[in-house]
Amino acid sequence: MPMAPHKLETQARACAEALAALLWQVFVNGSPADRVLAEFLRQHRECGARDRRLVSESLFAVLRWWGWLRPLVPPTFLQALPPQSIGTTTSAEPQRERAGAPAIHDREWSKVLLAAHLLEDGPLPPVTPVWCRAAHVELPALDSLPSGPDRVEKRARAVFRALGMSTPPPLSLTDLVPDWVFEETRLPCPRTQLIQWFQRRPPVWLRLQTPDVESVLREFRENQITCQRHPTLPSALRLAPVSLNLRALTAYRNGHFEVQDLASQVIGLACAPNPGERWWDACAGAGGKSLQLADLLQRRGTVMASDSRVYKLDDLRLRARRGGFPNIQCREWHGQPVAARKATFDGVLVDAPCSCSGTWRRNPDARWTSTREEIDELVTLQLRLLRGAATGVKPGGRLVYATCSLFHRENEGVIDAFLRDNAAFTLEPFTHPLTSEPTPGMAQVWPWQGDCDAMFAARLRRNS
Ligand SMILES: C[S@@+](CC[C@H](N)C(=O)[O-])C[C@H]1O[C@@H](n2cnc3c(N)ncnc32)[C@H](O)[C@@H]1O
Repeated sequence: MPMAPHKLETQARACAEALAALLWQVFVNGSPADRVLAEFLRQHRECGARDRRLVSESLFAVLRWWGWLRPLVPPTFLQALPPQSIGTTTSAEPQRERAGAPAIHDREWSKVLLAAHLLEDGPLPPVTPVWCRAAHVELPALDSLPSGPDRVEKRARAVFRALGMSTPPPLSLTDLVPDWVFEETRLPCPRTQLIQWFQRRPPVWLRLQTPDVESVLREFRENQITCQRHPTLPSALRLAPVSLNLRALTAYRNGHFEVQDLASQVIGLACAPNPGERWWDACAGAGGKSLQLADLLQRRGTVMASDSRVYKLDDLRLRARRGGFPNIQCREWHGQPVAARKATFDGVLVDAPCSCSGTWRRNPDARWTSTREEIDELVTLQLRLLRGAATGVKPGGRLVYATCSLFHRENEGVIDAFLRDNAAFTLEPFTHPLTSEPTPGMAQVWPWQGDCDAMFAARLRRNS
């Protein structure tokens, strides 16, 4: 049912206020956008489903296009942000002492919201006419705007002109990610290809973990959830945008599927565990890959899941119970080597903490809060964790290193350094699960290989 005009006015204003407050927390406090948003929605239980959706879509749209939207943002807000979020490496000392975001300027924020939703190239929210009035602009005829992933710059110029900028700022795709990213990445394609993929809203991928796939698909049909099986990976299911809470479904409560990006599913497949084996998921976190390993083991064999942050393993325990995996055991681990007599694992997976640059499509805020300097520290930690976990691999066993990073230093760089002082390990070629191409034992998963995040996997074998 359409909303009454006065409710739309209230919703538009509330969304602009929420946006300014949320962006402030992301940029100034450095908190991840998904966490900030979840906390905001928890504190604003009065928000209905439509308000929640509007705030969430608006926040992510603004963050995705932030590199181009900055000229529209109120200067008082912009001047208070740290340098990396405004696209420079130096600036005046940010005004961190401020208690909260500067006052709302309806006109400017309405323009930012309008531009972000127009750049998204999808359906516009019902509050759009309210934003147009507040920004004193006419909504451009949508069919007059260039459309499609390879026409985003043209579209942006048309949007900026429609918003009253007779000479739009120079809009280059490369402004949508920090420049240093390309010095850290060995791209097999032009930069613009990666950025165009970063600008597309990612789909939700599920991993089925039941032989009774038909019952899951039936429940989806009953709830008008449109999905598509992956053409070559039978457990991967891609969902069309859905407003329903997937956690309310019986199939979810019975552990018949998990939400897991396709690129992340590639890592379990690169491990290729055999039923009956003993695996160690050394950086298990909430256990997405431990569950996948346990499923690939066909409930025979064991998975030891460890993490330094033990609270994360509580989530895994719940998920393991829901999925019916009694063979997942949880332990605390901080990267220390294991005693030689405990080198008993057929396989060890190190899904290392990383820059997460491969997930910038899903988490666009991180493009503006990450710094190049963080990579040095991450590489040191990654190498320490890989060396520590490698001591658990039995002779003849497998070691898999993974990150959700694009950066060469965190990926091939770590493997090269590890191999230099671990002569007992060698790279083991495997077939890339998405492209079916042979790999020399290391593979970067790119978003265009399956409409997914980017990840890296290296597979090594310990000599017998
Ligand atoms: C990329 S995340 C793992 C994601 C997880 N494998 C999954 O599929 O959901 C990396 C994990 O490494 C853990 N970690 C960070 N420092 C660590 C350390 N010193 N020792 C062990 N684990 C660590 C983090 O707590 C985090 O859960």
